[in-house]
Amino acid sequence: MHPTLNIAVRAARAAGDIILRYHNQVDLLTIENKSINDLVSEVDKTAEKAIIKEINKAFPKHSILAEESGKTLGDEDFLWIIDPLDGTANFLHGFPQYAVSIALLEKGTTTHAVIYDPFKEELFSASKGEGAYLNNERIRVSLSNGLKETLIGTGFPFRHPQHLECYLETFKAIYPHVSDIRRAGAAALDLAYVASGRLDGHWEIGLNSWDIAAGALMVKEAGGFIGDFSGRNKYLETGNVVAGNSDVYKQILKKIHPHLSEELQR
Ligand code: IPD
Ligand code: CA
Ligand code: CA
Repeated sequence: MHPTLNIAVRAARAAGDIILRYHNQVDLLTIENKSINDLVSEVDKTAEKAIIKEINKAFPKHSILAEESGKTLGDEDFLWIIDPLDGTANFLHGFPQYAVSIALLEKGTTTHAVIYDPFKEELFSASKGEGAYLNNERIRVSLSNGLKETLIGTGFPFRHPQHLECYLETFKAIYPHVSDIRRAGAAALDLAYVASGRLDGHWEIGLNSWDIAAGALMVKEAGGFIGDFSGRNKYLETGNVVAGNSDVYKQILKKIHPHLSEELQR
């Protein structure tokens, strides 16, 4: 394993240990509302501190963008993008679908990524050009051709109620053509599941870069495709994603595109 990826794994495991420690004590946590439908707990913050501590120890000059503490500028060529707990709402309900997500961007290109589900002890990792792995076993996107019999992941735009109608139209455009749809509640894990073939594809509106950065490298290194709603690669900026193997990616994009508002088509 590349030494830099090793640091990311160590940081993710440190955060995972903290998250698991609280798993059965969510009632005791202090929970704040950051904004509409946006919960944050002590766990998110404590886990994030643990990640940043590990990264700072190894790379004191690197820049960091972390969900709870924002941006810390250092050497701009190296940017760590961190979601200490993806799936906070799941976590707070004891619904075991959440993960730590960490990615490193070097001069704007993602080079290393880790998504760690501490409850299931599943560690997804990838380094650019080196493939994607689940607990050290190579993973690949599914082989499905066409949407028939596929299981597709999605997320609801609960932080962006203005996109709800439009989202529902995209849902209606996909639903009749697939085997089923899942809204599991942790976008980073959804992308890791696309990378490992558990989901055939995924689409979602209005994510943040920390939800996507690690999962995007994972999907690509597993042989898949990920793009924004115009089929380009601006998903970290727009927060809109479509992912899947080459065919599923194209089919989802084709089906949802006519239903997107002008704002979302950009
Ligand atoms: C959320 C989850 C969810 C997605 C949201 C994200 P959080 O992250 O990934 O699946 O639909 O848009 O913000 O807030 O739990 O880190
Ligand atoms: Ca998240
Ligand atoms: Ca989070």
